[in-house]
Amino acid sequence: MSSNPDFSDAELIEIIGNLKKQRNAVILAHNYVPAEIQDIADFCGDSLELSIKAADTAADVIVFCGVRFMAETAKILSPEKTVLLPVSDAGCAMAQMIDAAAVRELKRLHPGATVVCYVNSTAEVKTEVDVCCTSANAAKIVEKLKGEVIFVPDGNLARNVAHKLKRDDIMPFKGYCPIHNRFTVEMIKKRRREFPGAPVFVHPECPPDVTAAADAALSTGMMLKYVRENPSDTFVVGTEIGIIHRLEKENPAKKFVPLTTQAVCPDMKKIGLWDVYVALRDLSEQIELDEETVKKARGPIDRMIKG
Ligand code: 13P
Ligand code: SF4
Repeated sequence: MSSNPDFSDAELIEIIGNLKKQRNAVILAHNYVPAEIQDIADFCGDSLELSIKAADTAADVIVFCGVRFMAETAKILSPEKTVLLPVSDAGCAMAQMIDAAAVRELKRLHPGATVVCYVNSTAEVKTEVDVCCTSANAAKIVEKLKGEVIFVPDGNLARNVAHKLKRDDIMPFKGYCPIHNRFTVEMIKKRRREFPGAPVFVHPECPPDVTAAADAALSTGMMLKYVRENPSDTFVVGTEIGIIHRLEKENPAKKFVPLTTQAVCPDMKKIGLWDVYVALRDLSEQIELDEETVKKARGPIDRMIKG
C-alpha cells in the first residue's frame, strides 16, 4: 500500500467515485481485500463470481482489487478492455509454484491425461491446460472428465476433489497456498471446544484432514451463502480473515470467529484507497498479455465458465 500524504479517506472515496464515472470504470474486489476497498467496490466476490462479472461488464475499464492471476483472467475474458491491477506486485504465492514448462513435462509423462488448472495460476500456465476451475466448481468440472486427470497447481484442492468424487485417478501437483496449508485439525478442535455447536467452515485449499474435520469446505462466495442459509448465530471461519468484514456486514446479528487470526494473505492486503485512486488517475498498471497467450488461455477459462 503506498502512502497518501494529501487526502483524507473521505476525499479519496469522493475522487475515486468521480474518476470512475469519467473513465466508465468498474471496481471489482476479492472477498479478502481490506474493508475500505470492499466498501468502495461495485462488486465483491470469489474468483468465479469475479471472472463472470469481468466477462459481462459494459465498463471500459476494470479496476481489479485482488491479485495478479485474477486481473489476468479478467483481461483474457475481456481483452478489449483496460484492466488495471492497482498494486502491480500483488501476486499469489501458489500461482508462482508452477510454470508452463512444468505443465508440458507432466503432459509428456502422462499423455492422454486431462489437465485441470486451478485459476490461481499464471496466464502462461493456462495456455498449456485443458480446463480451468475455481474452488467453487472444481468438483463439478472434474466429475465430467473421464480418465486420468493432472490437477495443477494446488495439491490440497486436488486431493479434496479426489476424496469428494471418490476417485484415485487424479494426480495432484505439489503447489499449495501458504496461508491455508497452515490450518490444522488441532485449530478446529480448539475452536469447537471454545464455541460448541458453531459450524466450522474452511476453504478447500486446506489440507484434506482439515477439510474432513470441518463441517463444510467452501469457496469464499459459497461461505457467504452458507451463513445466509444457516440459522446458527456463531460461525468459525477457516479462511483468510479479510472475508470476515463482508460476513459481518451482511449478517450483523451473527458472530464470526477466525479459525486463526494468523490467516492473512499479505498480497491481498497490499492495496489501499490511494492505490485505487492512482490506478484510475493514471490508468496504471495495465495488464498486458500478448494475443497468442490470450487466445490459448481463453479456451480453458471459457470451458470453466460454461461448466
Ligand atoms: P475463492 O475463489 O474461494 O475466493 O478463493 C480464492 C483464493 O485465492 C483463496 O485463497
Ligand atoms: Fe494465493 Fe493463498 Fe493468497 Fe489465495 S490466500 S491469493 S491462494 S496466496
